[in-house]
Amino acid sequence: MHIERPSAQQQDYANLASKLLCERYGRSPLAYVHSFGCQQNLSDGEKISGMLAQMGCNFTDSPEKADLVIYNTCAVRENAEDRVLGNVGALKPLKKQRSNMIIGLCGCMMQQQQMADKIKRSYPYVDLVFGTHALLELPQLLYQRLSGQSRQFSTADSDGCIIEGLPLRRDGTIKANLPIMYGCDNFCTYCIVPYVRGRERSRLSSDILAEAQELVAQGYREITLLGQNVNSYGKGLEEQIDFADLLRRINAIEGDFILRFMTSHPKDCTPKLIDAIAECEKVCNHIHLPVQSGSDRVLTMMNRHYTIAQYEALIAYARKKILDVTFSSDIIVGFPGETYEEFQQTLALIKRIGYTALFTFIYSPREGTKAASMEDPVPYAEKSRWMQELLAVQSQIREQQQAQQIGRTLRVLADGEASESGWLSGRTVSNDIVQFAAPKQKLGSFVDVTIERALNWALFGRLSETK
Ligand code: 5AD
Ligand code: SF4
Repeated sequence: MHIERPSAQQQDYANLASKLLCERYGRSPLAYVHSFGCQQNLSDGEKISGMLAQMGCNFTDSPEKADLVIYNTCAVRENAEDRVLGNVGALKPLKKQRSNMIIGLCGCMMQQQQMADKIKRSYPYVDLVFGTHALLELPQLLYQRLSGQSRQFSTADSDGCIIEGLPLRRDGTIKANLPIMYGCDNFCTYCIVPYVRGRERSRLSSDILAEAQELVAQGYREITLLGQNVNSYGKGLEEQIDFADLLRRINAIEGDFILRFMTSHPKDCTPKLIDAIAECEKVCNHIHLPVQSGSDRVLTMMNRHYTIAQYEALIAYARKKILDVTFSSDIIVGFPGETYEEFQQTLALIKRIGYTALFTFIYSPREGTKAASMEDPVPYAEKSRWMQELLAVQSQIREQQQAQQIGRTLRVLADGEASESGWLSGRTVSNDIVQFAAPKQKLGSFVDVTIERALNWALFGRLSETK
């Protein structure tokens, strides 16, 4: 696999851009970087911020105050794209007031040629457009635009490479995302990701381990390993390693931290991996295992490569091996040609499994994918009704699960302040939200909380004993 590092030339561009930015604004420029979409995209956003910091930018949390606005976009569903376009539209009056503002769009949405063309045509106030494969070019594109050249577009298609050695500006101090692989080769028929993020490629385990060690040394308490399909980590690498091996190696790093990972594809989730999760004490006993549908016919149409029987066998094995394991899932409602009876099979599956969280989506056609050309006779309003039915079922399941937590003492990583003053918020190893009264000094610590009250979205309790 081709690994790229920032070159001396790119460093030169960063220095030149930094100088021009300073001249343009007469001070350190203020940047606003916002990433839409998945964790992988948030992780790319940290690289963008890192490069901007290297070019002398400071950061603001409002686009109104920013000299430089970068939206790192998501293309996974139409409503994600609409949200981005709405936000970009809102920048027009700002740019009218302050013509020296720079606006950049990047990420998955911009990797689609038709979308980059649309921006070129209809959003003339956008200065930079670069796709997921052009992250490293940011200093160059910025320099070229700042030095008076026309609007910059870099959206060439590519299989993708691995970029190492970029500066990072991480969003948090307690939890960190750690990408282990990029791209996707699965071509689920509904999904745009393989078209905008290139072929599946794994980082060298030595690079991942070095980054994990650094994170632990810096005091991060939770590391989430990221990839579109972490379970196929290692394919294509020279070294013989799979995801289970990688988990064991990161688990062996000394320190008080927990490990999560996402996203798992059921077709590549092996008993070997389940055994590793069970045996690694730092790995959380929660698995996000998107099933998408409860119907074998729909799964085939989706090109998912597993049956419901295989999926449930996997869940059963995990329940046997991993103490108190919990599961969450993604569900698509209204895939082209899905019938109400098939949707009912999804409901039945949800009831059988008892997921602790569901991420539910009404099918959204994505140009260029196989499913986008399939017959899709069920009207959107009908799909919305199915969705309401599903949400009601899940809400009831969740209510029962949450009620059962009352009285239990759970280990929680305090990761933020709750809206109620004097209260903190955190997550259990099962990824449930817990709120409790505690001083701010407890932020970043693992605490034990005895649960006294339960709502569907969170548990509330009392600090019992600190570790
Ligand atoms: N329509 C609806 N949901 C989708 N997802 C991916 N593509 C689509 C689409 N075209 C959902 C899947 C995936 C999650 C990240 O987004 O459930 O697991
Ligand atoms: Fe993430 Fe997929 Fe959205 Fe890209 S399109 S940001 S990979 S969810």
